[in-house]
Amino acid sequence: MASVVLLVSLPYVLAARCGVDSCTDAVLETLARDLTANYKGFSSCESRMNWVKSNTGRTEVEACEKVAEEFPEECGACHPFQSPPPPQTSPLPSPPPPPSPPPPDCPSPPTPELNKTAIRGALRTFTKELANVPDVLNKTYFANASLQLPQWHICTIVQQCLDPPIMGRIGDMPPKAVRALHTALHLAMSDDAHNLLLKQMHSNLLLGELQDWANSCPGDCYELRDASGQLERGLVNLTDRGYKIPANRTECGDLRAAEPPNYTFWRCYEKPRLLHKANIDTETGRYGLGNIFKEPHIHARNNFFDFASVYGDLVGEGPFGFRFSGHHLDINYGFKADGSVDDLPVFLGHNPLVVPGTTPPV
Ligand SMILES: *[C@@H]1O[C@H](CO)[C@@H](O)[C@H](O)[C@H]1NC(C)=O
Ligand SMILES: *[C@@H]1O[C@H](CO)[C@@H](O)[C@H](O)[C@H]1NC(C)=O
Ligand SMILES: *[C@@H]1O[C@H](CO)[C@@H](O)[C@H](O)[C@H]1NC(C)=O
Ligand SMILES: *[C@@H]1O[C@H](CO)[C@@H](O)[C@H](O)[C@H]1NC(C)=O
Ligand SMILES: *[C@@H]1O[C@H](CO)[C@@H](O)[C@H](O)[C@H]1NC(C)=O
Ligand SMILES: *[C@@H]1O[C@H](CO)[C@@H](O)[C@H](O)[C@H]1NC(C)=O
Repeated sequence: MASVVLLVSLPYVLAARCGVDSCTDAVLETLARDLTANYKGFSSCESRMNWVKSNTGRTEVEACEKVAEEFPEECGACHPFQSPPPPQTSPLPSPPPPPSPPPPDCPSPPTPELNKTAIRGALRTFTKELANVPDVLNKTYFANASLQLPQWHICTIVQQCLDPPIMGRIGDMPPKAVRALHTALHLAMSDDAHNLLLKQMHSNLLLGELQDWANSCPGDCYELRDASGQLERGLVNLTDRGYKIPANRTECGDLRAAEPPNYTFWRCYEKPRLLHKANIDTETGRYGLGNIFKEPHIHARNNFFDFASVYGDLVGEGPFGFRFSGHHLDINYGFKADGSVDDLPVFLGHNPLVVPGTTPPV
């Protein structure tokens, strides 16, 4: 997921960009790929120029020159001191070039316009607001920016790293700190990516509520024969099968744990009578049953199981970064001292969870 802010360019009437007529709109829109990059590498000539201008203090003409020289094939026609530009070999006034189709794997090219100053400032506020909770601050802030990647490799929350010593717990943080963290996230992510993050967090909260209910409701224990994946038809009354009916969900869960694949699950007397399905078989499209009894412990879904960490220089111009991680999300941004963005792992995921068409399914 691209971690960018998309800028909308306002319509304006000016002399040709970069002062040369060959610098047409089509050239400006051409995607130039930086294979050495950090970042996904794709950006239009124009957005590269804009970026150079606003991040390196160069003038318009200098920015045109720099980008044209860096990407002669794609952006060379915008070189302000060169005529005719290299890629347009035709001496005739060329017909407008056909719009270059976007590369198939990159339909909406990201524009690397990130306000690093603002992100750094938000993270500075975040850590400042943690000053009153030193235990949390200790686990959240690391002055050494190089620790970010090795720490990411230690664990992700979804891999059951439930109480990482290398990240602060959001549930232990004061609201003002959490707000600053979310400001940083929003600044670092495109609107689309940020919306996906919010959706994931909302799903987590909703699923957490449902799980809590499924694990606390009065109900009965059923066996579910899951071998064929036919959840709605595989339910068995345990008494009929010679079992003592488990007294509560813990016993019911233990029964399941002992005898796979004949799963047991707790069925609430009252609605919603939840049936948690997880572990989709991607070959057949069939679902296996998640262990809802253990889920609240291994896959908690609330802000006591969301974590953040911040790295590096929050005051000067040095490298810095941050990470936000929770149930099925792990957002990780690093900003290098030279102004580029480190392409660190980002994960936004979702478990298959089916709410059966007929409820309850039994
Ligand atoms: C970046 O953020 C800083 C601090 O919030 C702000 O002063 C500055 O105008 C922003 N720059 C751009 C290009 O938006
Ligand atoms: C935080 O870390 C510092 C430096 O390692 C240490 O001196 C301090 O006691 C720690 N504070 C807490 C609350 O753990
Ligand atoms: C920062 O962390 C990196 C990676 O662990 C390590 O190699 C380096 O020595 C550390 N730098 C300082 C100043 O502690
Ligand atoms: C299972 O069957 C037994 C015996 O027929 C019955 O008494 C019991 O209520 C049933 N349990 C459930 C959960 O349907
Ligand atoms: C469930 O039943 C078992 C055995 O009767 C008991 O030891 C356990 O405390 C009960 N657990 C809950 C959560 O009620
Ligand atoms: C599990 O269910 C299958 C039928 O689907 C049955 O043959 C088998 O005996 C059951 N195993 C246990 C341990 O109950």
